[in-house]
Amino acid sequence: MKITVVGSGYVGLVTGGCFAEIGHDVVCTDSDLNKIRTLEEGKLPIFEPGLDKVFEKNRRESRLHFEADAAKAVRDAEAIFICVGTPPLPNGDADLSAIDSVARVIASETQGAKLVVEKSTVPAQTGQGLKRALEIYGRRRNAKFLVASNPEFLREGTAVGDFLHPDRIVVGVEDRAAERQLHEIYRPVLEQKFNCPVHSSKCPAYEPPAWMVTTINSAELIKHASNSFLALKISYANLVADLAEKLGADIEEVLEGVGKDARIGMSFFRAGLGFGGFCLPKDLQAFVRLGERWGVDFALLREVEKINQGRISRVVEKIRKAAWVIRGKKVAMLGLAFKANTDDIRYAPAIELVDRLTTEGALVRSYDPEALGRTREVRPQYDLASSAYEAAEGADVLVIATEWPEFRKLDWARIRDTMARPLIIDGRNLLVPAEMKALGFEYHGIGRHEEESLQGSQ
Ligand code: UDX
Ligand code: UDX
Repeated sequence: MKITVVGSGYVGLVTGGCFAEIGHDVVCTDSDLNKIRTLEEGKLPIFEPGLDKVFEKNRRESRLHFEADAAKAVRDAEAIFICVGTPPLPNGDADLSAIDSVARVIASETQGAKLVVEKSTVPAQTGQGLKRALEIYGRRRNAKFLVASNPEFLREGTAVGDFLHPDRIVVGVEDRAAERQLHEIYRPVLEQKFNCPVHSSKCPAYEPPAWMVTTINSAELIKHASNSFLALKISYANLVADLAEKLGADIEEVLEGVGKDARIGMSFFRAGLGFGGFCLPKDLQAFVRLGERWGVDFALLREVEKINQGRISRVVEKIRKAAWVIRGKKVAMLGLAFKANTDDIRYAPAIELVDRLTTEGALVRSYDPEALGRTREVRPQYDLASSAYEAAEGADVLVIATEWPEFRKLDWARIRDTMARPLIIDGRNLLVPAEMKALGFEYHGIGRHEEESLQGSQ
């Protein structure tokens, strides 16, 4: 099928690449002409494991194209997926102006019937607004729009696998024709019939995805309610971690014991620096605002936000207790991305931590395996190291702010020998405390019983 993806940001590129991978003819467009130029040159502007291979193959086989002219890109498409940004306005509402402007372009280019699918995360009832906008902007043309909502549940770092092996595919539709067309688009995923670019030999056994047909309003609500629940689960883990720390319990043991209950589950149940990224924090905020507008008090979710906002202060206090004074101390920051396997630093807890420590007079030297380039663009003033070892040299304290697995495998004895003081604050509970202690480190994690010694030392 001929598919156009409008908005070639993170979600748009994964969506476009994966649709091409399962056999569709895809055009990606974006209002940022530089982005399209970069893509046309064969360069992928984001780091996402496996996506480069998908892009290379589908460009070579002429299933994936880039078009700067949005009007041209949407004109011949049978289905259009809207993946433009919906950033938060100062009051926390989602800014829907990009969706409105895309609707104008689509409406002015459409003759006959066209399926228009919103993939961007939007507050419930945006689909109705989109439908109205398309009808108004296209009223002088012989156009019929089938509007649908098809929320994405892609996690950065594993997005290609998430797209091809999802738990469920949710389509919010108003008529059978839209449902049929979407089913056709997703058929290879539903039947799991494609050469998987993620699992080179055989994909792990897995139940084929659930095909969920809902109203548009329900589909929109499912996305916001899912992300808010994930945020809630993480904040709950963090709150229990605070108590575990005080009581001398170990949060890793506690969460495992709780999460092994199948009704609760281990996933998204890790304590640490709190949740960041471009989705969870902003979707949570927008959901609270949506509730407010409709007279539903989401005090529960405001608390989730509050707990999350307090995480960085807690870690700063932890560093202060361990290092005594922050001003003038050399801090090695391992990790800048908001989580592992991505170069994305938007709303990254690590960035907030570096900013806070710097404001307090610490001399922070940071390293990240993938996010140095993006950090240089957004925070040119940062002192960046080209390896974890370089960042650690002469440091009074080393902080782990992103859970990159490779940090686990570092030569920690070498790091110990070059640090001014062998002190680790592990904001992601990535390392094994006993191993670090055996190597001669003073080690403090989050919600771990080592904290007793920290408190005792005050
Ligand atoms: C975005 C949303 O923020 C998220 O809520 C949604 O689920 C999917 O889209 P992401 O892809 O990470 O997520 O955002 P971003 O990287 O900002 O990409 C949006 C793209 O849309 C940008 O490349 C931007 O240039 C483009 N855009 C924006 C348009 O093409 N047209 C516009 O009018 C505005
Ligand atoms: C999220 C949703 O998971 C995805 O379904 C949606 O489509 C987009 O938003 P993403 O933004 O890629 O995906 O990140 P996610 O994996 O959800 O992690 C968000 C943040 O929570 C990260 O900062 C991560 O470090 C943190 N996190 C995650 C925890 O602190 N603990 C956990 O147990 C899991």
